[in-house]
Amino acid sequence: MSSFKDLRIVDNFYQSSAFFPMPLTLIGTLDEKGNTSFGAYSLCFPYYIAGKDYYAMVLEVRNNSNTAKHILRTGKCTINFLPYSKKIFKEHVRLGFPGDTPEEKMKEFKFHLEEGLSCSNDPDNQYPKVISEALQVFECTWVKELDGAENDQVQEEYNGPYHNFNGITSKYGAHFILKIDHILMKDKYYDAIINGVTKKNFCPLPTNWGYRDSKNFWCSGYKKADYEGIPDKEVDLTSIRYAADRADDVVKFTDDALLTIVKVPRPFLKLVLKGCVDWAKENNCTLITEKEMKIISDKRNKDKKKK
Ligand SMILES: Cc1cc2nc3c(=O)[nH]c(=O)nc-3n(C[C@H](O)[C@H](O)[C@H](O)COP(=O)(O)O)c2cc1C
Repeated sequence: MSSFKDLRIVDNFYQSSAFFPMPLTLIGTLDEKGNTSFGAYSLCFPYYIAGKDYYAMVLEVRNNSNTAKHILRTGKCTINFLPYSKKIFKEHVRLGFPGDTPEEKMKEFKFHLEEGLSCSNDPDNQYPKVISEALQVFECTWVKELDGAENDQVQEEYNGPYHNFNGITSKYGAHFILKIDHILMKDKYYDAIINGVTKKNFCPLPTNWGYRDSKNFWCSGYKKADYEGIPDKEVDLTSIRYAADRADDVVKFTDDALLTIVKVPRPFLKLVLKGCVDWAKENNCTLITEKEMKIISDKRNKDKKKK
């Protein structure tokens, strides 16, 4: 007999048939007058994370929400992550109430607004503002060309045909693949990412658990994050040597160079070796030793800081 029960899977299964940890965000979009308005959203996750020309999020929304209409019209949004407090959560729930117009919602808006980087870089165009109290904000542009959604327009009703994963995807739903234009971060957490995270400088974001029992939205505040190092696997140079010898015809690696990357997880090894080979070619180097590995690693850290 299994130690589990088989639960029915129904609409909105993530909150009606499961416990699913989600982010708590306020999505800022431009209304028809060019003012920024906000809706509460949790179904917002990384979509393209590597190997494409850009990075993207996916947002799942009711297709007659203000947010969906605004994204269909302007293609721009900001994803604002605020810390947890009862008051802040209450404001999210207020902004999550369907049916209010942008004006009605924004009349009593509890936070402060400022321009993001998109606006400073391109002052001639309009972009939704960002929330000053947020700890982190993603400024995004809808990639409307994906899945042939470029002609999707705001309608009273959507009767199909529907797209599979971008634009209007069902009678009531829409998905938006959102290219990340900028990630804006408050100082303390910027430093944490650049200089390394500790238990003390982690960005204290809450976890949303959704709407339950047709009664309440549930959310938990931030608790200290814990860490666990990766397993200290036996240092095995032979497999790294095998990949290194095949990384390039001309550029070669010494053993002490390879010893500096023994902890790189195997799926990333090729990429790391390629980065080293590219550096060697730019610098007319044919033998990479521990010394060159240090230069490459310092350069990578510097580039990371610049970003
Ligand atoms: C915490 C929270 C999270 C929510 N997440 C979503 C979501 O991911 N997708 C969605 O369609 N609606 C979600 N809702 C409901 C929307 O916020 C609601 O439809 C609201 O009317 C949207 O505002 P808007 O019409 O101004 O876009 C959420 C509500 C709350 C309170």
